[in-house]
Amino acid sequence: MKTFVTRKEMIQWRQQMATEQKQIGFVPTMGALHQGHLSLVKNASQENDVVLVSIFVNTKQFNQSTDLQSYPRMLSADIDLLCPFQNVYVFAPDEAEMYPADLEFDPMPLGRIGELLEGVHRPGHFEGVVHVVHHLFALVRPHSAYFGQKDFQQLAIIRQLNRYYKFGIEIIGCQTIREPDGLAMSSRNLKLNPSDRQKALAIYRALSHLKQHVKQKELHQAKAEAVHIIENAGLQIEYLDIVDPITLESCASWQTSQVCCVAAFCADVRLIDNMLCESVL
Ligand code: PAF
Repeated sequence: MKTFVTRKEMIQWRQQMATEQKQIGFVPTMGALHQGHLSLVKNASQENDVVLVSIFVNTKQFNQSTDLQSYPRMLSADIDLLCPFQNVYVFAPDEAEMYPADLEFDPMPLGRIGELLEGVHRPGHFEGVVHVVHHLFALVRPHSAYFGQKDFQQLAIIRQLNRYYKFGIEIIGCQTIREPDGLAMSSRNLKLNPSDRQKALAIYRALSHLKQHVKQKELHQAKAEAVHIIENAGLQIEYLDIVDPITLESCASWQTSQVCCVAAFCADVRLIDNMLCESVL
C-alpha cells in the first residue's frame, strides 16, 4: 500500500496523477476503518482510476478532550484493510503536516445549517471539520469525494463548503452501512461493551418505528414514541428531531420527505444516526 505522510509527497503524487490523466476519488477518514468506510472506498474505487484515502484524527473537530483521547487509532490495521484495493493510496499526515503554521485559512460562515442539531451540542465541531476538509480538498484536488450519509449534517456542510470555496468537486453521499442487527457502523462502536452494544440497538428500533408511522400517526406522537424507545433502553438522548432533508429545520408536520436525526449517549459513548422517512401515502 503506497502511503504518504508529507504534503510534499502528496503534491508530487497529485502532479503525477495529472500527467497520467487519472480520475481521482477521495475518501477522507479519521481511521479506525470499518465496513462503512470500506463501502465508500469500494464505490470510489469502482468509479475512479485511483482513490486517495486520508487517515487523520482531526483534533480541531473534537469539542471534548476525553473523546479525542479515547478515539481509536490503528493505522497499520487500517492500511491492512485497504490492501485488497489495487488502486488505493493512503495519506496519513501528522498534525504539523496537516496544519503547517504558515498555511492560510479563511473560515467559511456555517450559516443556519451549522446552528442546528450537532451545531447546538458540539460547539466548534463543524468549524473543525470545514478546516480540515478545506485543506484536504485543496491538497488532493480530487474529481469526486465520498462521504457517508450517517453524518447527514456533515454531508450538507461539505456540499456548502464545496460551493463556498468553489472547489468544483463532485460530492457523493453514500448510504449508511449497518450491522446485520441494524446498528449504524461507526468507529465509536468499538468503545461499547457487549451489553451497551445491545442497548444501542434502540436507536435503530426508534428510527425504524418512526419510518413505519410517517403520516399514520401525528408527527409529535410518533416522535414521542421514538424518544420513549431510546430512553426505555437506558440511553440519554441529546436530540431527536424530524427535519427537512435540505434545510435541516425541524418539521412541525409531516412532509413528503423528512429525516429523523438522533444523537444519544449509550453509557459514555455518543452515537448519532438518522433515517430518511418518506411518505408512502
Ligand atoms: O467523517 C469523518 O470521519 C470526519 O469528520 C472527516 C470528514 C474525515 C473530517 O475529519
